[in-house]
Amino acid sequence: MYRSHTNGELSLKNLNEKVTLSGWVQTVRDKGFMIWVDLRDRYGITQLVFDESRTSADILVEAKKLGREFVIQAEGSVIERESKNPKNPTGEIEILVSNLKILNESQLPPFTIEDETDGGEELRMKYRYLDIRRNPVKDKLIFRHKMAQKVRNYLSEKDFIEVETPVLIKSTPEGARDFVVPSRMNPGQFYALPQSPQTFKQLLMVGGMDRYFQIVKCFRDEDLRADRQPEFTQIDCEMAFVEQEDVLEIFEGMTQTLLKDITGKDFGKFPRMTYDEALRNYGNDKPDIRFGMKFIEISDLVKGKEFKIFDDAELVVGINVEGAADWTRKQIDAYVDFVKRPQIGATGLVWIKFQSDGAITSSVNKFYNEEDLKKVAEQFGANAGDLMLVMSGETNKVRAQLSALRMELGNQLGLRKGNEFAPLWVVDFPLLEWDEETGRYHAMHHPFTSPKKDDFELLTTDPGKARANAYDLVLNGNEIGGGSVRIFDRELQSKMFDLLGFTREDAEAQFGFLMNAFKFGAPPHAGLAFGFDRLVAILDGNEVIRDYIAFPKNNSGRDVMIDAPATINDAQLEELSLKTNL
Ligand code: AMO
Repeated sequence: MYRSHTNGELSLKNLNEKVTLSGWVQTVRDKGFMIWVDLRDRYGITQLVFDESRTSADILVEAKKLGREFVIQAEGSVIERESKNPKNPTGEIEILVSNLKILNESQLPPFTIEDETDGGEELRMKYRYLDIRRNPVKDKLIFRHKMAQKVRNYLSEKDFIEVETPVLIKSTPEGARDFVVPSRMNPGQFYALPQSPQTFKQLLMVGGMDRYFQIVKCFRDEDLRADRQPEFTQIDCEMAFVEQEDVLEIFEGMTQTLLKDITGKDFGKFPRMTYDEALRNYGNDKPDIRFGMKFIEISDLVKGKEFKIFDDAELVVGINVEGAADWTRKQIDAYVDFVKRPQIGATGLVWIKFQSDGAITSSVNKFYNEEDLKKVAEQFGANAGDLMLVMSGETNKVRAQLSALRMELGNQLGLRKGNEFAPLWVVDFPLLEWDEETGRYHAMHHPFTSPKKDDFELLTTDPGKARANAYDLVLNGNEIGGGSVRIFDRELQSKMFDLLGFTREDAEAQFGFLMNAFKFGAPPHAGLAFGFDRLVAILDGNEVIRDYIAFPKNNSGRDVMIDAPATINDAQLEELSLKTNL
């Protein structure tokens, strides 16, 4: 038996008991006549003590050999500590060791394995298995496990069945590039890894499964960011004989359950916003509504005063920063510089100060007198002491730029608190988006999404205006899930493929299996998928999903620990018919 207890469970209640512990040596403090060792495992840290006057000489010799991260087994009795550590659950006791076995030695680790470490990001990634020994990393993985468990329980109780779908499939269009896998047995042919199990879950509905879910790996070859990994996990769900409202209800319930579990608070009905409202009020389709600074459009008030930039703009829009009228020029300039960064791409930022003495001044005083500015301030609902920041330009661009500024302000002013949660449904997404580059429509969600009944006509007259039965769940400014009511009618699906520029042959080649299935009694169905990594990170007060993945990829899509991707040898290339004669 390697251990009678873990390193997180002994207390004064166990006084004088004989115990056996195993784990890793976190620190050794050798005072010559006394040696203290912090012994660590997943459950905690227990202090071991070796004492010249009470420990046998041969054990002391062994103890002197110990170094960081040695794996040991120690037998001894639980005694009361002289100097107690109230911060540690086992801090009132220590183990007077009577027997010690070194199970495995360890090289000196490349960084300190303690809560605060000296290891840089790249080094910790290379030795991820050592990083996982640290509480901040380990706790995140445990948190992830607990969330997965709650999700499984919730969905199982609601009659969802977890079904596994294949990983070697044919391309599913979710808007990113596919990872492909060559087939040895079918030379020159490739599988694609699923960007999501979308078509399979729809086929499960045709198969009568009624309610499906799967916590499933998805693969997308896209540029990486803090909230994106090339392989990530979805909580993928689908339901038959439902409408949008049924889906929202089930998954609002699931999210409420998780939020209640974490915060202890009841989250009532989640607010809803249409896509159009979200863009108008916050400049993007995943607004963080934990804080205000709603967009105020002021084109009507500021045009025609000979300020060319505003006169030429499609939209003049701003936000009111409460209590910021006393910001210095330098403080404001930092935000001007922020919006001018190439990633944001604005040409400038106009400010209007409603000073605490009631006077209103601006960076465009030349064009607007105090009377003009007063009207603007009124439109903003600004009070004395507030600062208005205004941008202008082409509608979509200026909204995106002002949205970036709003988020930056939210971060800088501490308004985006990790332990506050603001869920929001964004509904009524457009069905299609026009792509300038290819000169054709793309499905905004995916090609299986059903248009709103009221907008069927528009598919023929003005497809760009048609709205979809599509919805996203947004949490704290992040899209944590998205889904739609599906097309289940063969004709309509075929029409969608036409609109998206598929030839009949292409559609048949790529989606023939689905169209075929629709011939055999497809039920009405709808569903959604959560980004599980994102959900977990945000519920834990973070936004970087990498920390919640045991073995993540870096920003170049590499696993620096196993050093992948990597080349393969000629024999393998040949076997896969991939060898070129260049
Ligand atoms: P969608 O493409 O919106 O929908 O994906 C669902 C959710 O998955 C998360 N997500 C990601 N998380 C981490 N890294 C990524 N690269 C990444 N890409 C997406 C997001 C997103 O909301 N089949 C549809 C769902 C459906 O219609 O039922 C789908 O995959 O949180």
